[in-house]
Amino acid sequence: MRNHRIAAIPGDGIGTEVIGAGLRVLEALAVRDGGFAIEVAHFDWGSERYLREGAMMPADGLKQLKPFDAIYFGSAGDPRVPDHITLWGLRLAICQPFDQYANVRPARVLPGIESPLSGIGPGDLDWVIVRENSEGEYSGAGGRVHQGHGEEVGLDVAVFTRAGVERIQRFALDLARSRPRKHLTLVTKSNAQRHGMVMWDAVFESVKGDYPDVTTDKMLVDAMTTRMVLDPASLDTIVATNLHADVLSDLAAALTGSLGLAPTANLNPERRFPSMFEPIHGSAFDIMGQGVANPIGSFWSASLMLEHLGEAAAASTLMAAIEHVAGAAEVRPRDLGGEATTEQVTNAVIAAIEGANR
Ligand code: IPM
Ligand code: MG
Repeated sequence: MRNHRIAAIPGDGIGTEVIGAGLRVLEALAVRDGGFAIEVAHFDWGSERYLREGAMMPADGLKQLKPFDAIYFGSAGDPRVPDHITLWGLRLAICQPFDQYANVRPARVLPGIESPLSGIGPGDLDWVIVRENSEGEYSGAGGRVHQGHGEEVGLDVAVFTRAGVERIQRFALDLARSRPRKHLTLVTKSNAQRHGMVMWDAVFESVKGDYPDVTTDKMLVDAMTTRMVLDPASLDTIVATNLHADVLSDLAAALTGSLGLAPTANLNPERRFPSMFEPIHGSAFDIMGQGVANPIGSFWSASLMLEHLGEAAAASTLMAAIEHVAGAAEVRPRDLGGEATTEQVTNAVIAAIEGANR
């Protein structure tokens, strides 16, 4: 029996609801498969802990997480705590030391889901955004000088290293190669940002030759937003900096029907550290505790986690169950215009898993 040790960090807001739902689904998959077991440890880290004890996670938190095979993360964010504290105290405090430099964000119109773009169905929008996840605009370098005085200066320094740029571009080229279209679009802003972004272009020129079977093109990030809306079928795999891909992935999620559907994998491809899987929707305090959050982003993230753990069959069973339920009008959650609760959507996905052909 293959045993996978998962650290569950539900975090804040609806994170607890959708991770709880995802763990039920993972258990159903393990039972149906019969070849693997999921062993879950729960960590109550997040804003409640911060308010109680002054830190989002314990000082030895990374040591506690290191032995796990994967981390299943809900969200971090609370109206009572400044956003930069929740972000840097938990999500980035795990991603950066664990060198999860490849953030993978699939965006695809699922069957039965309506895109806000008219006439765009499954097959017309099928992208994977690869976000550089370890440096760039999220490097944390910078500071504030003359704080509180009229001459105050605030600096956020985007740090791009050749090693960091090359490894994410090679990762994206490899990923593009594994997809049927084998196409990669490089996104930068090398007209206005003439140092780091020009280096991104130069590194791309030097590495893409190693992937002759992958076709490539380049876009400036502003023009990319219009291409995503006006010509979605022309795109396949996309690679961009930390901040650019952050913005583009929200747009991508909206174009697929709802932010509630969108998944993420924060990967350490070399597997020196555990990778982390999370829905991208955030804590959504306006609907927390009501049991109406859409759990599909969390399920899709669980499918990416299963793939990473080597459980390809279970990952595709789960994806098929998600697609089956997404297409069913009677179990449509609120963000997709229906009235189904988190539990009803979860039960429907579990029923689809149990009914799936072996
Ligand atoms: C994301 C989110 C985070 C980010 C927020 C919650 C800080 O928007 O994962 O895309 O900017 O990285
Ligand atoms: Mg974001």
